Amino acid sequence: MDFDKVLREKTKAVEAVIRAYAPEEIGLYKTVCQAMNYSLLAGGKRLRPMLMEETWRLFGGEDAALIRPFMAAIEMIHTYSLIHDDLPALDNDDYRRGKKTSHKVFGEAMAILAGDGLQGYAYETACKAMDAAKDEGQLGRVARALRVLAVKPGLTGMLGGQVVDVEMEGKPISKEVLDFIHERKTSALIECAMMIGAILAGANAAETAVIEEAARKVGLAFQIQDDILDVTSSLEVLGKPVHSDEKNEKTTYVSIMGIEKASGQVEKLSGEALSLIDGLRETGGYENPFLGELLKALIHRKK
Ligand code: FPP
Ligand code: MG
Repeated sequence: MDFDKVLREKTKAVEAVIRAYAPEEIGLYKTVCQAMNYSLLAGGKRLRPMLMEETWRLFGGEDAALIRPFMAAIEMIHTYSLIHDDLPALDNDDYRRGKKTSHKVFGEAMAILAGDGLQGYAYETACKAMDAAKDEGQLGRVARALRVLAVKPGLTGMLGGQVVDVEMEGKPISKEVLDFIHERKTSALIECAMMIGAILAGANAAETAVIEEAARKVGLAFQIQDDILDVTSSLEVLGKPVHSDEKNEKTTYVSIMGIEKASGQVEKLSGEALSLIDGLRETGGYENPFLGELLKALIHRKK
């Protein structure tokens, strides 16, 4: 498999799905739609919708009409979190995805509203899967997927992690608290993506739980790599400022354990995640070689 070529093609296909569900820029509230689309359509790795789709493939997913609205929805939620995370009251960053941040272009008020707008529109979009459901069974899967989409980005998930992150700024924190933050701030949305892919393809509760655990590990490994890149990369490569953690006096995996040990953790967690997914081949015959390659590439990514 020419992984890079396949990845480029799949990223393009995900882009098309996101574009198809992006809000129309019309009406008296047009400005907020423009701000929503400015960030939503600004590129990015499209990791979450791609992981959702590839997990769906892993479990032999057949009806793309069910999953497409959810793919767009999770990228909307992710984009809302990035817009708000970059605001002056939070990380106060000027660049994201290689472009000026929302508040730099549209002003702070409109950036707040664009984030709110994307969050709400995500659920409006995901609900479109209800119209695509062909029978009660499919409708049940959509309902269970909606529940995951409601829970994982919320209080006990991404938002909760962000709250602890904000409150701990400038304070020394233990590895346990750092894990708590990142299992929510970063892993929760990756769990959300992969669990929804599994549920919509018809995975049972035990299989979905394996995916949740693998995704938690992927998310942590991804975040540790993020911390490493914040020290070792550049604005040009990353598309966002480096040394942002130091500027914000953030405790990171690198500040706690150094680059070498942090890289070791990335290896360990990603190996564990891959074995969990590999185990599904043995127990249920589920296989998706691209998913394995994708997880490896993300964890060892340079941007
Ligand atoms: C980069 O994703 C983002 C993360 C690693 C997650 C950070 C978590 C937050 C910003 C949560 C903020 C929450 C609130 C409620 C404000 P990526 O590297 O996939 O980015 P890309 O999509 O641009 O490629
Ligand atoms: Mg932040």
